[in-house]
Amino acid sequence: MTLRNFYNRFTVDKRLAEVTGHNPYYPIINSGLNEKIVANGHEMIDLASNNYLGLAADGRVKRAAVEAVEKYGVSLCGTPIATGYIDLFQRLEEKLSSFVGLQETVIFPSCYQANNGLFNSIAGPQDLIVVDRFAHSSLIQGIKSAGCKIRPFLHNNLAHLEGILQRSTGYRQVFVVTESVFSTEGSIAPFKEIVELCETYHAMPVIDDSHGIGVLGKSGQGILEEQAIEGYQGIYTASLGKAIANSGGMISGDKRLIDYLKYYCSHLVYSTALPPAVLAGTEAVLDIIQSEFGVIKNRMVTYQQEIYESLVDGGFTVAPSEAPINSIQCGSKEATFILAKKLYEKGILSTPFIEPSVPLGEGRVRLIAGANLTQDTIVEATKIIKRVGCL
Ligand SMILES: Cc1ncc(COP(=O)(O)O)c(C=O)c1O
Repeated sequence: MTLRNFYNRFTVDKRLAEVTGHNPYYPIINSGLNEKIVANGHEMIDLASNNYLGLAADGRVKRAAVEAVEKYGVSLCGTPIATGYIDLFQRLEEKLSSFVGLQETVIFPSCYQANNGLFNSIAGPQDLIVVDRFAHSSLIQGIKSAGCKIRPFLHNNLAHLEGILQRSTGYRQVFVVTESVFSTEGSIAPFKEIVELCETYHAMPVIDDSHGIGVLGKSGQGILEEQAIEGYQGIYTASLGKAIANSGGMISGDKRLIDYLKYYCSHLVYSTALPPAVLAGTEAVLDIIQSEFGVIKNRMVTYQQEIYESLVDGGFTVAPSEAPINSIQCGSKEATFILAKKLYEKGILSTPFIEPSVPLGEGRVRLIAGANLTQDTIVEATKIIKRVGCL
């Protein structure tokens, strides 16, 4: 094969963007996540980012990041096992462990990497992983790379999960993997019951709380607090790039596992450590959550409800949501793109999901209103939504 022919294999099918006249992907953002953001040169209301608590451009978080840059510079130019493990790392790992109520924590450059590295390290061909069929790509890719047996269970369906567990004998270890908040839907896993099933069938539960940490629970501590799961013996992962408003991923749980990952998980050991600014920014967010979560949560919940009502008034079909997410059921990928386009043209940035991120023909447009937005902006957004519904 000639070099030219080789590269010809890599074409992106952009027909959908051409037919609908809109490509919603890779918008160029020319501002921070402020009251209004600037996307592709236009001022817009951001209902697309996962900035649930609205802390991504908070002055206190920015200041903490700047101070860390002053002290440590922008990078430690090394992996955590070499020169990257500054004191901020150790302090943040301790804070995250006590925040989620688990023994120990290790921080990865991203949760995608954490999820990928985890299964590689803990599972192999003698094991079975039973996983919710809507689980995030980072979990699925990680599970596939472990070379173990895989069985999907129907989304949040305990009876189906139990049936699989009853039939799953003869493995070295069975794992049950799920997410807390499924962000394309807004649904929440019945994780307490899943943990109980795991105890009955001696399976190891693994929860990805990426959209739950900083969002769920009375103090924002996530799914374990929300569902009053005491003495959790399983494995916990989460992204620090959503409500926590920075970047990175964490794995928490038993000290022996965390120590093992720190030395043997290649996704951590061979990748440059998170920069100091991110570690300091994350710590600042945890401090804000600890002192202000009640007030912030009220705003998140109110905004979600106000947007939900405007969607219903606008004639949209919205998935029932238990999280601060509104997910509009659009059907075909064309319909999904067209709705995202109409919102975009009226000044709202949204997130469209089409297959393979959601099942074929079940396109979604997701709206998340960050708690940093003012009531005036939410009113403006609801008016736009109702108008778009009439188009
Ligand atoms: C459920 C879930 N897990 C993991 C990730 C990956 O997190 P990160 O962005 O930190 O790599 C995401 C991000 O989209 C997610 O939604």
